[in-house]
Amino acid sequence: MTTIDQSATRIKKACVIGGTGNLASILIKHLLQSGYKVNTTVRDPENEKKMSHLRVLQELGDLKIFKADLTHEGSFTSPISGCEYVFHVATPINFTSQDPEKDMINPASQGVINVLRSCLKSNSIKRVIYTSSAAAVSINNLSGPGIVVDEENWSDIYFLTKEKPFNWGYPVSKMLAEKAACIYAEEHNIDLVTVVPALIAGNSLLSDPPSSLSLSMSLVTGKEMYLIGLKEMQKLSGSISFIHVDDLARAHLFLAEKETASGRYICCSYNTNVPEIADFLRQRYPKYNVLSEFEECLSSAKLTLSSEKLIKEGFRFEYGISDMYDEMMEYFESKGLIKPKES
Ligand SMILES: NC(=O)c1ccc[n+]([C@@H]2O[C@H](COP(=O)([O-])OP(=O)(O)OC[C@H]3O[C@@H](n4cnc5c(N)ncnc54)[C@H](OP(=O)(O)O)[C@@H]3O)[C@@H](O)[C@H]2O)c1
Repeated sequence: MTTIDQSATRIKKACVIGGTGNLASILIKHLLQSGYKVNTTVRDPENEKKMSHLRVLQELGDLKIFKADLTHEGSFTSPISGCEYVFHVATPINFTSQDPEKDMINPASQGVINVLRSCLKSNSIKRVIYTSSAAAVSINNLSGPGIVVDEENWSDIYFLTKEKPFNWGYPVSKMLAEKAACIYAEEHNIDLVTVVPALIAGNSLLSDPPSSLSLSMSLVTGKEMYLIGLKEMQKLSGSISFIHVDDLARAHLFLAEKETASGRYICCSYNTNVPEIADFLRQRYPKYNVLSEFEECLSSAKLTLSSEKLIKEGFRFEYGISDMYDEMMEYFESKGLIKPKES
């Protein structure tokens, strides 16, 4: 008599927190393509512009959309119920905030605890995957070059909260939320893995360009706010380090399913700096103007982010820097946001 392997035929179910986000939407696509049923949460299901990519993704498989907010206690209980994996991807981001504690730091920590509390109520959860950020590991006062940052590192919270450099609230929010998640998970025996991504690049399913793509493309678009952001990122983080969004989504799924995975995983496939990116862009896309005024940026990165732990676990990156920029150039061209030089 042949026995059927139940685990091979059973349909798995996952919840993705924050379906209107760039990474979350690509992760949902990968989950559906891998045969998962997916529940996702959004803040405002009435916002058709933000929902349009989710309507398209619903054609790929079983995708249910729930209304939930990180700051509303209990709003994740229903979408999480019956799921094996929860991907907590959403985060409050407000680069122009006058009150980062209120706009980012408090809701990020409160949000992760709300999500974990709902996981405790469900007895189906095998693992929670929390998306942290390279901003939680790489900001320090050390002098480079040659520093290698791994999962043992945390950004210098004393420096961030005392000096309050550009956009200090975001790294602080990511650090404190990740730490709160780890403590709560340990106290309540929840299997938690955290992913620590570099700057997200590559394609997007969203109708408006995500801020990470606008940062990466600022040397071509010339958009001042993002150009300042990119230069400040190198100054503060010590490098411009990239990950392709599809590799990052694949890494989230890999780390959910890999039984031996535990703790933090940096996810970065390419370390560089602003002058090097500009040279690369000029050579690869000669029909576009590429900005060249960034004297304040060092032409060698102070540090590199190491993904050795993820690679040792068995993960392989599939995309390089050329793939990332080819896709971003195509996305920006398709939206009419960049134009070739006049000949
Ligand atoms: N982008 C990067 O380069 C980068 C690098 C490292 C780490 N990360 C991390 O990766 C994750 C995804 O980044 P992303 O760039 O894909 O983000 P994103 O596109 O900016 O999306 C952020 C998501 O968070 C949701 N959100 C914000 N406040 C919320 C709240 N109070 N309640 C519920 N949802 C809320 C947003 O919903 P609305 O649409 O309603 O605003 C949106 O869906 C984040 O955790 C981020 O910190 C990103």
